[in-house]
Amino acid sequence: MSKLEITLGRIKLSNPVLGASGCVGHGFELEGYTDLSRYGALSMKTVTLEPRAGNRPPRICEVSDGMLSSIGLQNPGMASYIQHYKDKIKTACRPDQIIISIGGNEVEDYVKSAAAIAENFSPDEIAALEVNAACPNVAHGGGAVGSSPGKLQDVLSAVRKAVDFPIIAKINTNEGNFCEVAKAAQHEGADALYIANTPMGMAIDIRRRKPVLGNVKGPVSGPAVLPQGIAKTWELYKAVSLPIIGSGGIYTWEAAVQYMLAGASAVGIGSAHFVNPNAAVEILDGVEKYMEENHVLDLREIIGAAHAF
Ligand SMILES: Cc1cc2nc3c(=O)[nH]c(=O)nc-3n(C[C@H](O)[C@H](O)[C@H](O)COP(=O)(O)O)c2cc1C
Repeated sequence: MSKLEITLGRIKLSNPVLGASGCVGHGFELEGYTDLSRYGALSMKTVTLEPRAGNRPPRICEVSDGMLSSIGLQNPGMASYIQHYKDKIKTACRPDQIIISIGGNEVEDYVKSAAAIAENFSPDEIAALEVNAACPNVAHGGGAVGSSPGKLQDVLSAVRKAVDFPIIAKINTNEGNFCEVAKAAQHEGADALYIANTPMGMAIDIRRRKPVLGNVKGPVSGPAVLPQGIAKTWELYKAVSLPIIGSGGIYTWEAAVQYMLAGASAVGIGSAHFVNPNAAVEILDGVEKYMEENHVLDLREIIGAAHAF
């Protein structure tokens, strides 16, 4: 067993460095910019049952030490996703790297989307299904599901009954009850938690005297949110025993190691890809070097290790 291998519930990954949904396309778009085979896994862009046009532009803007985004889950809908992306995803990524992210408004949407994935990918063709209950950019579903323990439980319970994939519950940590939401995911048998750690923010164009984003507000990504993400991971690690995939502000291997010491079993690399499409591979190299230099033989030695301070 390689010292970088990590198991999250029923999910077995070759290493803990993952590409975060919405920041790595469907994998194949990154070919030619980085070595996809080095990723522990890639969460594909969230797909919903029906097509979504997304939010009013502008949808992204740079801010100090990061970016704002407000995409609004733009995607072509499940039927088109399967038709255009299924084969490309399967060709670009190994089965153990493929995480399909689904979003929805109602329980039924998630169940139908999960069932559509199961019709097109057998359980040994993907690593996991990611239930996106984290998106703060949509009026219904997404973040609304992830901010209510009861709603998240309903979604996870129905999806688990419908399909046989390992399940990752992606929640946001913006609400004060995120530990309760995480406990609900644990109770409902999720294999792992993915935490987005992207608080809402806003920028104003001082010349035009109006908000920069068409949707006015959007989550802040990038190094600016790193300390907050570490703190939320720290709290969550104490609240649940589910493996945590930490994301938010990871642009360097040092940030990834901080997340792991706070309690994350794996890390999701998001907007760093827009600055450096090879960021995840460089972060993985750094984590490996850190382990060598510090005589860490197994990742589990560092996961949550800072709690013993
Ligand atoms: C442009 C953009 C699009 C995103 N789209 C999605 C998405 O479709 N589904 C999802 O679960 N998260 C989405 N996210 C959130 C990321 O997966 C990740 O949780 C977040 O970017 C982590 O913070 P970081 O960018 O600081 O690494 C998106 C983020 C950005 C910046």
